Amino acid sequence: MTVVAPKQKLAWITGASQGIGSAVALRLAAEGWTVAVSARQADKLSELSRASEALTGSIVPFELDVTDAEACTQAFEAIEEQQGAIDLVILNAGTHEPIDGKRFSVAPVRKLVEINLMGTVNCLAPVIERFVERQAGRIGVVASLAGYRGLPTSSGYGASKAGLINMCEALRPELMEQNVVLSCITPGFVRTPLTDRNPFPMPFLIDVDTAATRIVKGLESNRFEITFPRRFAYIMKFMRILPYWAYFAITRRTVPHDQ
Ligand SMILES: NC(=O)c1ccc[n+]([C@@H]2O[C@H](COP(=O)([O-])OP(=O)(O)OC[C@H]3O[C@@H](n4cnc5c(N)ncnc54)[C@H](OP(=O)(O)O)[C@@H]3O)[C@@H](O)[C@H]2O)c1
Repeated sequence: MTVVAPKQKLAWITGASQGIGSAVALRLAAEGWTVAVSARQADKLSELSRASEALTGSIVPFELDVTDAEACTQAFEAIEEQQGAIDLVILNAGTHEPIDGKRFSVAPVRKLVEINLMGTVNCLAPVIERFVERQAGRIGVVASLAGYRGLPTSSGYGASKAGLINMCEALRPELMEQNVVLSCITPGFVRTPLTDRNPFPMPFLIDVDTAATRIVKGLESNRFEITFPRRFAYIMKFMRILPYWAYFAITRRTVPHDQ
């Protein structure tokens, strides 16, 4: 009798050269997944791949700049060709830059929208096409609690993340009809190279491994919203229902004094 080994589950994570993406990749590989990791810094992806040698699963690097739509389609196709059908996609690539509102200009907003919003769209398009054909698949889009409402200095970042949340809300029921489950991941502050450069105290800051655990556990369920840390998420949800007069009375106080 020939015994066929069950197929190892395959995930694709973008923005996995450091921070949240890399921690989630290691967590999934520790659980036996094969994980295709993408980012621009190829050396860091190779390091991650070497780190996975001690784990049950494995990490395979695919260099990718998510602002290049054609390259995103090619990367997705290359992963499937080499590794098989992808079960789970985590679209996490992103960046943050504070914008001084009184010096508001096109370039920083364009950069944030190109990477955070359009970079996700560039990957989502080929993934949705294939998952709908297959009538199967799990997708997690990493947005942010900063996308729940407009916050001072966050006019570009917040807009890109609010756009992602809205897009996920729109897509979720349509994809559900196709047996494709899409979730929106909205973290609060997580200690990563991105937040290490923040000069201000970050409320409810959590470490990257805790964030990775919350994401992996959240994606095991079918729920739409994967948000953490819980107390910060409750505060941001409460802010969402405040009328504008009350909301601006609070956020005006958070405008940095040097602005
Ligand atoms: N840390 C937080 O507190 C926090 C909170 C809420 C949401 N988030 C979101 O979580 C995600 C990960 O954040 P993080 O804190 O882990 O940031 P990070 O440490 O700066 O990591 C960001 C990752 O995105 C990749 N990336 C950036 N631009 C890219 C591009 N054009 N093409 C491909 N990959 C690109 C980077 O890789 P390369 O530079 O190698 O390309 C890196 O691997 C982001 O979407 C962020 O907005 C973070």
